[in-house]
Amino acid sequence: MKQQWQSAFGQMTYGIYVLTTVVDDTINGMIASWVTQVSYDPPLIMAAVHPNRYSHDMIANSRAFGLHIIDQSQRELLARFKGPDPGEKFANMDWKPGKTGVPVLKDCLAWFELQVIQQNQPGNHTLFIGEVVSAGSHAEATPLTTLDYDGMYVGKN
Ligand SMILES: Cc1cc2nc3c(=O)[nH]c(=O)nc-3n(C[C@H](O)[C@H](O)[C@H](O)COP(=O)(O)O)c2cc1C
Repeated sequence: MKQQWQSAFGQMTYGIYVLTTVVDDTINGMIASWVTQVSYDPPLIMAAVHPNRYSHDMIANSRAFGLHIIDQSQRELLARFKGPDPGEKFANMDWKPGKTGVPVLKDCLAWFELQVIQQNQPGNHTLFIGEVVSAGSHAEATPLTTLDYDGMYVGKN
């Protein structure tokens, strides 16, 4: 039977972001929604990433990640940034390496580049806390959130 806390979690809303990573010549990207600002001074953002994700060890090793706020017309990115082939994920996308080398996508509402300053695993996801080393915003539109997503990310595995 469904636990009460599971239904309650289902009512939480989040942004839906594209998280990018790089190690040596390998780039990768994944969709992440368990993401939040955790400090203003210094500017810090936390992303919770399951250890099964290919991106997980890439972030742990490179100590950096990129985060992109996308808009409601970019839902196709949910299917794109899934699965094992980093080459396919970035096919025909305009991006350039940021200060830390992580891919910064051109087509997004806003982006951050983060240097990981802390990492811990209180549960089944690793919390990567990153300090903003660069950021930009390109456009004004309505950000994609879990309200636009059928189903939800429950974080099981
Ligand atoms: C809407 C949505 C939100 C997601 N949020 C997270 C998240 O916060 N943390 C996480 O570890 N995986 C999350 N995922 C799952 C990953 O995006 C997915 O497992 C992806 O294929 C991982 O890619 P990788 O293995 O190449 O890193 C989410 C997926 C979707 C569709």
